[in-house]
Amino acid sequence: MKVLREIFGPIPGIGDASLYTITNSNGITLKVSDYGCTIQSLLVPDKNGKPGDVVLGFDKLEGYLQDHPYIGTIVGRYANRISNARFMLDGTEYRLVQNHGKNHLHGGAVGFDKVLWQASEFADKKGAGVSLEYVSHDMEEGYPGFLRVSVTYTLDDENQVCIDYQATTDKPTHLNLTNHSYFNLNEAAEEVYDHELMIASSRYVVTGRDLIPTGEIRSVEGSPLDFRIPKPIGKDIHEVEGGFDLCYVLEGDGKTTVLAARVVDPESGRCMETLTTEPGIQFYSSNFLAGITGKGGIPYRKHLALCLEAQHFPDTPNQPDFPSTLLHPGETYNQRTIYKFSNTQDSP
Ligand code: GLA
Repeated sequence: MKVLREIFGPIPGIGDASLYTITNSNGITLKVSDYGCTIQSLLVPDKNGKPGDVVLGFDKLEGYLQDHPYIGTIVGRYANRISNARFMLDGTEYRLVQNHGKNHLHGGAVGFDKVLWQASEFADKKGAGVSLEYVSHDMEEGYPGFLRVSVTYTLDDENQVCIDYQATTDKPTHLNLTNHSYFNLNEAAEEVYDHELMIASSRYVVTGRDLIPTGEIRSVEGSPLDFRIPKPIGKDIHEVEGGFDLCYVLEGDGKTTVLAARVVDPESGRCMETLTTEPGIQFYSSNFLAGITGKGGIPYRKHLALCLEAQHFPDTPNQPDFPSTLLHPGETYNQRTIYKFSNTQDSP
């Protein structure tokens, strides 16, 4: 396996962004850009062996330079919401950029999705990929600490796209990273209503106004949010206002990856499993997606894709009972999330 690099396009005032292409021996091709640490494209064979793109994105860099809802990017420093864009840490109040009403969403006005990362490619026996690094300065978007972040995308011959995250800080800070890919296993031919989804979770983080957690964790039992037994996403979506946008509680130990979700598209036969070390997974059915044109001229619209964002719970800095997102000097933040592909023709 090897990695090819090409110029993706110029970022005004900054320099060129690159696009890295990694192909495995089973016909999967992953493209990653250093702008926003973004998965730009992911070709996966269908049940007849025909490769097709399973993620939303843009053909050209310009698409990523416009305002867009984090399509394929890394989100940070804090994926999801922080209420009132503030938190207390060691007796000091930190005020973050308010970029979602009075709240803070996905790292602020210029989050990790809108910066150029330093990339280096690698290939070894286990797979090939790109490691990307970004240094976030003290008080960037309001967060304390000089933070060094690295994200490594690896594609292997087990058909896994593995995302490894690491970070260190020189001051206590909060950190919650994720990848915000929008998946449609049928090449965005139609809304994801027929995709069959299983989420290995019996509880979710209850939210109130503006999707801010109330602090309650509730059972999915008997509600349209219950995906423990696989069901088409469209089955109950209209019973949930706007569609699905919630964080499910996972039961891993934080060190080893556990199966969080499985999606099957019966038409193409493509299947994807999400495994993670994180305590939560946000299932978002692209409820707010609208008004942008994506790859191949496809109009991106509501419910065209699903995001399965492995992460800690929203608003943890203001919720003392949620698993902590604090990172201290001397510690290393670690996360591994895997998207693993197969198809209905594969033997189990
Ligand atoms: C996340 C959130 C959604 C929305 C999208 C971006 O998945 O949970 O509410 O903010 O990102 O549009």
